[in-house]
Amino acid sequence: MPNKKKDTSDQTSRRGFLQATAATSFGAYFSSVAASSAWAADFKSPNEQPGVAFVGAGIRYHTYHGKHALKFGPCIGIADVDGVQLGRAQQVAIDIHRANNRPIVVGAHEDYRRLLDNKEVDVVVIGSVDHWHTKIAIDAMNAGKDVYAEKPLTLTIREGQQILAAMKKTGRVVQVGTQQRTEFAQRFAQAAAMMRDNRVGEVSKVTVCIGGSRDAVTLPKCDPPKSLNWNEWLGQCPMVDYRAQSEIVDTTGWGAGFPFGRAHRYYRWFYEYSGGKLTDWGAHHVDVAMWSLNKLGDDIGKITIDPLDVTHPVEFVDGMPQRDDMFNCATKFNVKCTFADGLDMYVRDNAPKLGFDNGIMFEGNQGRFLVNRGKIVGKPVEMLKDKPLAGDAIGKLYVDDPTGTEGFGEDGFHMKNFMECIKSRKTPASDVQSHHRMLNVCHAINVAMRLGRKVVFDPKTEDFGDDKQANSFVQREQRKGYETSV
Ligand SMILES: NC(=O)c1ccc[n+]([C@@H]2O[C@H](COP(=O)([O-])OP(=O)(O)OC[C@H]3O[C@@H](n4cnc5c(N)ncnc54)[C@H](O)[C@@H]3O)[C@@H](O)[C@H]2O)c1
Repeated sequence: MPNKKKDTSDQTSRRGFLQATAATSFGAYFSSVAASSAWAADFKSPNEQPGVAFVGAGIRYHTYHGKHALKFGPCIGIADVDGVQLGRAQQVAIDIHRANNRPIVVGAHEDYRRLLDNKEVDVVVIGSVDHWHTKIAIDAMNAGKDVYAEKPLTLTIREGQQILAAMKKTGRVVQVGTQQRTEFAQRFAQAAAMMRDNRVGEVSKVTVCIGGSRDAVTLPKCDPPKSLNWNEWLGQCPMVDYRAQSEIVDTTGWGAGFPFGRAHRYYRWFYEYSGGKLTDWGAHHVDVAMWSLNKLGDDIGKITIDPLDVTHPVEFVDGMPQRDDMFNCATKFNVKCTFADGLDMYVRDNAPKLGFDNGIMFEGNQGRFLVNRGKIVGKPVEMLKDKPLAGDAIGKLYVDDPTGTEGFGEDGFHMKNFMECIKSRKTPASDVQSHHRMLNVCHAINVAMRLGRKVVFDPKTEDFGDDKQANSFVQREQRKGYETSV
């Protein structure tokens, strides 16, 4: 990392042990999961097992990455710019190693580049904040590592182009963390296969509901936590004051344990670091919608994006939020995306008249169905009993068919698919090319919402034609020393 002070890995290790008690319950759970898994059969000897490194050790590390990646190989090290997060994550990995008779040695670093220098590291799992994904992924590929990177892969359209160029240059395998493509009992894959087989007839409308971003609260200036290197957390983004509330309000659920603030958990509600719901849940559900509609090529023609109804918690002028002490992403929205063939895809926080607030509804002249993480329902789904999909209908959705591998559809399969691909050098189920094209649409929707007006996005040129104002969002100025380049 540029502008670096001395690496604090030894200090953070010690701090990790001091924090360890907070992590023991996670540790016990993950150890039993890893020890009982038969999935790692493909990597029989320890010599064959990939050395795994984690960069960013927040919620996603605790709910998915640590638990699933360490079925396949040992944790060589973890990096996080917050020593407390790092210590908790390190203890979890140590517990998994202990339960699996692996050496109880897990590196802990503030600077992720220490992991990239380590020859024992074969794969890098990126669970950092969104604005760091691209730089870490490109640095990892250039260091010869394969990469599992969380969605949203990028902060801007330009970053996606850079990641693709880095893949071409290095030949590394990259899986994007959009696990809806391979998990959740295959519901989303089934939906995509049904749509490719015209099971709603002629498609009249697609509605994608992803919830709204969190309502804003005032965040006073304060010192960052002592364990957090705020400068490094900000990375490419402009240097601003740290802001957080003094009390923890969220005490249950995924965001629990931290006060509302600019950093951990809640950064996703700032356009500076993320894209609100569009890059949070949109990266999952818009992906399924466009995958199902077979609209992930660059030859689909221009998309007109019309923000019919949008509520931001703060005032925007020329697309820029006018205050920095509140979350700023859209809390309510209904955006109409019209493809070149005339099909409308509505991306909304919720759709009360259709009776759902999370999922994707496909409507056509022969019926409609809804799919989300918990269900897939509607007449076309019931009709599968009489007219099932062809045996290869789901496998054909992917660049390389993952469906023959044990566990397809189960929790953790997405990581397994990545690990299989690092051996076979095949393309993982969430390939970067199609994710990039889909995420471009999410980024473009955010541009339309921020500007409060219609924009026309061209998937081929990956810009907004002669709309100079919209084009100014295709890339961002990056802080000196934190630029992404291939
Ligand atoms: N696929 C999914 O369903 C899913 C679910 C949740 C989160 N995610 C994604 O996972 C990522 C992490 O989300 P989270 O909820 O765990 O956030 P979080 O705030 O809990 O954790 C992010 C961690 O990254 C660390 N970090 C920031 N900059 C870093 C750097 N330069 N080097 C190393 N560590 C750094 C932070 O200190 C923090 O500990 C996000 O991109 C999010 O979109 C995906």
